[in-house]
Amino acid sequence: MNLKGRSFLTLKDYSSEEIRYLLDIAGEVKLQKKQGVRGKSLKGKNIALIFEKPSTRTRCAFTVACNDEGGYPTYLAGNEIQLGHKESVEDTARVLGRMFDGIEFRGFKQSDVEKLAKYSKVPVWNGLTDDYHPTQVLADLLTIEENFGRLEGIKFVYLGDGRNNMANSLMIGMAKMGVDFAIVAPKELFPDEKLVEECKAYALENESTVTVTDNIDEVKDADVLYTDVWVSMGEEEKAKDRMSLLAPYQINSEILKKTGKDSTVVMHCLPAVKGNEITEEVFEKNSNIIFNEAENRMHTIKAVMVATLGEGLFWKA
Ligand code: CP
Ligand code: NVA
Repeated sequence: MNLKGRSFLTLKDYSSEEIRYLLDIAGEVKLQKKQGVRGKSLKGKNIALIFEKPSTRTRCAFTVACNDEGGYPTYLAGNEIQLGHKESVEDTARVLGRMFDGIEFRGFKQSDVEKLAKYSKVPVWNGLTDDYHPTQVLADLLTIEENFGRLEGIKFVYLGDGRNNMANSLMIGMAKMGVDFAIVAPKELFPDEKLVEECKAYALENESTVTVTDNIDEVKDADVLYTDVWVSMGEEEKAKDRMSLLAPYQINSEILKKTGKDSTVVMHCLPAVKGNEITEEVFEKNSNIIFNEAENRMHTIKAVMVATLGEGLFWKA
């Protein structure tokens, strides 16, 4: 497997085998780090971290992962550089591509991260756009596998805003990795039908299922319940509408009971708004897996950078 030079813009671009490869590297670099071993895979590489939107986990994960592997991260706040204000994305991309070896981008438009990749000609990694959040899903897959010892046949139910970046990326990633995936959301917040059809095709190839429903009874037999904020970054004006639409989809102890399984875990990409999408009680009971998931952002992001840009591989290919 060789992913050298590839960008990571959406999980649509990665096959099940390539995702498997990234998860395996993540497991390996995680083990190495726990044993106190640091890599040298990004030695001498300069990495730009562009953030148009705020971030704790993604920013820290890219920074620490880059440092761990001997690279040099440079943080570029969206409002402090010319990108998209005084200069086109294409021009900024061509400048950054001449100076940096890899670029992370978190921002609004998916088309911007795609333009960055096209014009910079270096690997570009999507740290979240309005449409997708692919590195988060790698961390979620690793966490599920660590918890259950497998991905295939796990029943995963996402409750909440069914058309945001997390819902979209989870649907793609889970379908490709053989996880039975459901979105439970009000009809007004169902995902784009075309994307659902694409994901159903991935699911068919990987012996999994994709379901979209507004019926909360779908949580029956779920191994994982997952949620995300009701109001994503950049959609703050929709807050009032979302509260009333999504109140019935809060993950609380009653919904958890409906799974009929004691082993069901609750996951959250964080940051969480407790009292909205999840109760404090359920959050705290699941805090161990939720914070493992947060830690896994770092190991999986390291895997993406190492696989697409790193040198001197020390893991089994
Ligand atoms: N989950 C996640 O992406 O967190 P941040 O917004 O803090 O990066
Ligand atoms: N849907 C959320 C994800 C945060 C990690 C947002 O875009 O704000």
